[in-house]
Amino acid sequence: MLAVEKRYFITTFGCQLNVHESEKLAGMLEELGYIEGNDISSADVIVFNTCAIREGAQDRAIGNIGSLKKIKRKHPEKIVAVCGCMTQQLSESEWLKKTFPFVDIIFGTSNLYEFKDFLQRRLAGEKRILEHSEDFNLEGENVALKRTSGNNAWINIMQGCNNFCTYCIVPYVRGRERSRSSDEILEEIKEALKGPKYTSVTLLGQNVNSYGQDRDEISFAELLRKICALKGNFKVGFMTSHPKDLTSEVIDVIANEDKMKKEIHLPVQSGSNKILAKMNRKYTRESYLKIVKEIREKIPDCRITTDIIVGFPGESEEDFEETVSLLKEVKFDDIFAFMYSKRKGTVAEKMEGQVPEEIKNKRVNKCLALQKEIKRSKLEDR
Ligand code: SAH
Ligand code: SF4
Ligand code: F3S
Repeated sequence: MLAVEKRYFITTFGCQLNVHESEKLAGMLEELGYIEGNDISSADVIVFNTCAIREGAQDRAIGNIGSLKKIKRKHPEKIVAVCGCMTQQLSESEWLKKTFPFVDIIFGTSNLYEFKDFLQRRLAGEKRILEHSEDFNLEGENVALKRTSGNNAWINIMQGCNNFCTYCIVPYVRGRERSRSSDEILEEIKEALKGPKYTSVTLLGQNVNSYGQDRDEISFAELLRKICALKGNFKVGFMTSHPKDLTSEVIDVIANEDKMKKEIHLPVQSGSNKILAKMNRKYTRESYLKIVKEIREKIPDCRITTDIIVGFPGESEEDFEETVSLLKEVKFDDIFAFMYSKRKGTVAEKMEGQVPEEIKNKRVNKCLALQKEIKRSKLEDR
């Protein structure tokens, strides 16, 4: 007689990195014999892979976890696990454990690779598990993987971030930059391309342009060239680029290699030099515009997209208008505009001149309305 199939269901918050890590959580669960379920209520193992980038992202995760209370009361045998960037912060993990007694397993990004072990321990009767470590390594690259993103294969080329933009939680919840070996990356891509369905490869890292700088490795541009030299019919993209590290060599590779997607996501965050300095972004409005000019000259059909933060501490109306004027000048193909959100432990948390929510709201709406207009006029120009 066949055993009853056990099912899992993963809810993912946050960026592509988390989406990719959920593919690893799925891979580990399938190694244990679980199959993917259709929804939370029919799943035996329920996982929330959380994000901490803005308060809103954390609140959404907390709301989703909270709503499990009833299900878990009726079905105490179900296992609930919470992981990701939110739970990499020990204070948040402890709060979750106290607030939601029905959560069985809590761990952070640094413990991802140990998920199978945690689950088996809990199933064997161990009491609720909260694991925390500040030892960020590359162990997570070695776990089983179940690709779930259609014809696109996500490939991690590095972990962590060294930039400490003053608003950002990522360096605290992801550790310092750790590049994978280029041989390993190329092997993983070759392996993925064996499946006939992958026509797109997207390289992931918080700042892919600094790939290899933390170890004896080739540069990002060289890595791209090696990937493009692999056999097969596929396109290569990457995210995200930090403007301070995007080299002419990388722009040339995108221009010259047929396999490179003609698109760059280049977060500018603000158009004001005063704010860029306070954000610790290490480039100016002028140097950013110079890169955009170079991209447009070398790759006229390149899609350029960006991220904007409005209402960073000390952002005056004049500073904000400089962001508006930059948007008008560059005419991005798309923008992601965010209201600044205070993150615990970051430098900007303690800065003076925090901007009221209603002003942030007004500013973000102005950016979005402007971008809508820009997109419309770009379409008309075609
Ligand atoms: N490593 C990437 C960004 C990752 S976070 C880079 O530097 O390009 C994605 C975006 O979230 C950022 O570009 C920024 O616009 C936004 N963001 C990060 N921290 C934020 C905060 N505290 N409040 C609002 N937006 C934030
Ligand atoms: Fe955050 Fe800056 Fe690192 Fe991007 S580069 S993850 S914004 S600290
Ligand atoms: Fe969020 Fe962590 Fe990504 S904080 S944006 S899931 S790196």
